[in-house]
Amino acid sequence: SVAAPPRRGALIVIEGCDRTGKTTQAMKLVEYLNGSDRKAIFMRFPDRTTPIGCLIDSYLSRGVNLEDQVIHLLFSANRWESHPKIISTLKSGASVIIDRYAFSGVAFSAAKESLGLQWCKGSDAGLPKPDVVLFLDLPLEQAATRGEYGSERYEELKFQQRVYKNYMALRDDTWKMIDASKSIEEVQRSMEAEVERVMKESKFGPLPGLWW
Ligand code: ADP
Ligand code: TYD
Repeated sequence: SVAAPPRRGALIVIEGCDRTGKTTQAMKLVEYLNGSDRKAIFMRFPDRTTPIGCLIDSYLSRGVNLEDQVIHLLFSANRWESHPKIISTLKSGASVIIDRYAFSGVAFSAAKESLGLQWCKGSDAGLPKPDVVLFLDLPLEQAATRGEYGSERYEELKFQQRVYKNYMALRDDTWKMIDASKSIEEVQRSMEAEVERVMKESKFGPLPGLWW
């Protein structure tokens, strides 16, 4: 007889404005799951290692200028090029922890005057919908004290305020707001508690598509 396929892994997305602790917490979550015998891998967007990612990196560091629509579609394409890896990892039974996803794509692009929220959602529609979105919530003034804004595009308080508003418009019942003003260890514990709850409660059926 053939062994039953493994239960699929969980798709866990970490979102939040700049410097809220996303990367720190994503890494810790991967360690936590691997340390308790559940395979998990780390991914991040933008993935600056691909040819499309190089172009995005150059745009962010102001090396090239691109039309607002063009950079939006490149961020989106940068996720679609990882689509096969996300799907195959989840099918293998391992979880995928992602530092920024389509919600960043929409929240940042739609913070520009030229692009609407609905238009921005279009190019990411159909990507796998996360089982949970952990949103690291922190007053923007407090995030700014974790290091001055640098010279990359979007690192500006007024812009970040519009990004935050867009994030709030994207929330649904898969979102969990995490108080990111606590210590790294405290934030880590609330993230782990949410992940344990999701892993216990979720049916882990077929992955639905985002925004369908
Ligand atoms: P992001 O990926 O959201 O930009 P990082 O994880 O890179 O954020 O963290 C940004 C900075 O804030 C780093 O210097 C990090 O050490 C610090 N940091 C992260 N979490 C906390 C926390 N809970 N309290 C204080 N400082 C933090
Ligand atoms: P990131 O590499 O996560 O940088 P940081 O660790 O400094 O937050 O993201 C770089 C910038 O790109 C950040 O300002 C958010 C923005 N961004 C978009 O505008 N669209 C997207 O789809 C993604 C994933 C990020």
